[in-house]
Amino acid sequence: MKNKIWKNLKRRYREVNEKRISSLFDDKLRFEKFSAVGAGVFLDYSKTNIDDITKRLLLDLVEGFDIPERRYQMFSGKRINRSEDRSVLHVALRNLNDDLFIGDTNIKKQIRDTFVRMVTFSKGIRSGKIVSGTGEKFTDIINIGIGGSDLGPRMTITALNPYIDGPKCHFVSNLDGAEIHDVISELNPGTTLVIISSKTFTTAETMTNAKTAINWLSDKLGSRKKYHLIAISSSLEQTAKFDIDVDNVFSFGDWVGGRYSVWGPIGLSLMIAIGDKNFSDFLSGAKEMDDHFNNAETDLNLPILLAMVGVWHRNICNYSSRAILPYENRLSFLPAYLQQLDMESNGKSINQDGKKVANRTSPIVWGEPGTNGQHAFYQFLHQGTSVVPCEFLIGANGHEKYLSKQHELLILNCLAQSEALMKGDTAKISNPNLEFPGNRPSVTILYELLTPKVLGSLIAMFEHRTFVEGVIWDVNSFDQWGVELGKRLTNEFLPLIKSKGNFSDLNASTAGLLKKVFGSGIE
Ligand code: F6P
Repeated sequence: MKNKIWKNLKRRYREVNEKRISSLFDDKLRFEKFSAVGAGVFLDYSKTNIDDITKRLLLDLVEGFDIPERRYQMFSGKRINRSEDRSVLHVALRNLNDDLFIGDTNIKKQIRDTFVRMVTFSKGIRSGKIVSGTGEKFTDIINIGIGGSDLGPRMTITALNPYIDGPKCHFVSNLDGAEIHDVISELNPGTTLVIISSKTFTTAETMTNAKTAINWLSDKLGSRKKYHLIAISSSLEQTAKFDIDVDNVFSFGDWVGGRYSVWGPIGLSLMIAIGDKNFSDFLSGAKEMDDHFNNAETDLNLPILLAMVGVWHRNICNYSSRAILPYENRLSFLPAYLQQLDMESNGKSINQDGKKVANRTSPIVWGEPGTNGQHAFYQFLHQGTSVVPCEFLIGANGHEKYLSKQHELLILNCLAQSEALMKGDTAKISNPNLEFPGNRPSVTILYELLTPKVLGSLIAMFEHRTFVEGVIWDVNSFDQWGVELGKRLTNEFLPLIKSKGNFSDLNASTAGLLKKVFGSGIE
């Protein structure tokens, strides 16, 4: 049955491909029919070449994957991360008081207890009740982490800048010591809290940076450094190795994937920055989207519709990438965040049964905020040889009321771009440089204002889109074995360098480069 629908979709593509997207607007109801709203988020997907018949076929396809059952399995804690034999319960972190789905009472209790500890701790830091080793109020926080343990806090704290009234947050993720150097050289260790965020607490980058930070604190504070160190992890065994006070350890279960972890302890720096009330709003926005995902009809369900469009573009139209274009400067880290969410979750070639997947999986996800991107890569979007489906995000309002005219211009730019991509301009045939082929698809995601609640809804929407796409592509969206080989080789190279370099067993290129760096030099 599914094979038949895939075939029908491919046939349908050949038919609709003859038409221009703009011609589909002859249907005066197109905007209403190809848009949906939920949890404070409005999705317009009318500027794609999906028409009524195609939409029906796509929905038939999605329905063939029994999303309600798969969704239920996730929310009820079934071990859907099969390759690691784990439940996938990031959704439980934002459903604190909801007994509907989450089965395991121990997990529920653990989540609530940790949340209460986070609230007490963040209140203490914000009010100055919890003081530093020098008896001062903490003025700065450094979150040390990488991947989800960095991008979650970094993206959300940047996005919610208008709500920050706590200590200033800084981020260190890269193994490149330049980053931590630049951060600590501007800070006073006596008033800086260091949060070491790592699910596994073994990630080389984070452990290396943590040691550097601990040395920095030690130099100034000696044993009083212990008041400055917080560990967030799902491995208490590993945090113990770092000699961090148990009261300063916030743990979470292995049922939260790194890229899905901002809702729990990994979000501690966010909670300290914006306060627990705003953090709770952030969770409640996500919960609202969870409820929408669970209850809205398939053809009005935002994550499902986004997945439907995603699969159409990736598998039927064969577009290899997807651009994330927030017209919201504070969402500058959203493209990177979604890049990890999609590409680490669904960038797989092996299906759930360990066989080669039948279809192409995750597209390349990339992007930049508008309007900056307009002056960089939009040339490629409008006139390049590859078509890139674009996902525009825009708030109806900005926070800066006195700059509302500037915000209006921002909105106009965003809408002008999606219009230009769709319509193109082929009238100026006298000069081919001025020709825009148009017919390039986009979706627009609109919200009222980028509040903590709206941000929560948006991220949860994207998470569930990734989930639905993963179900359709039949991959495990919650493991990431593809990052292991590079880590292993780094560890294999390490002893070679220590023993001053017998690189002969290595590939000539790698050996040659290592020799230049550690021996002969570049010239
Ligand atoms: O190497 C990939 C990865 O495991 C990501 O999935 C994760 O977000 C990141 O590394 C950091 O992992 P951890 O939180 O365990 O340090």
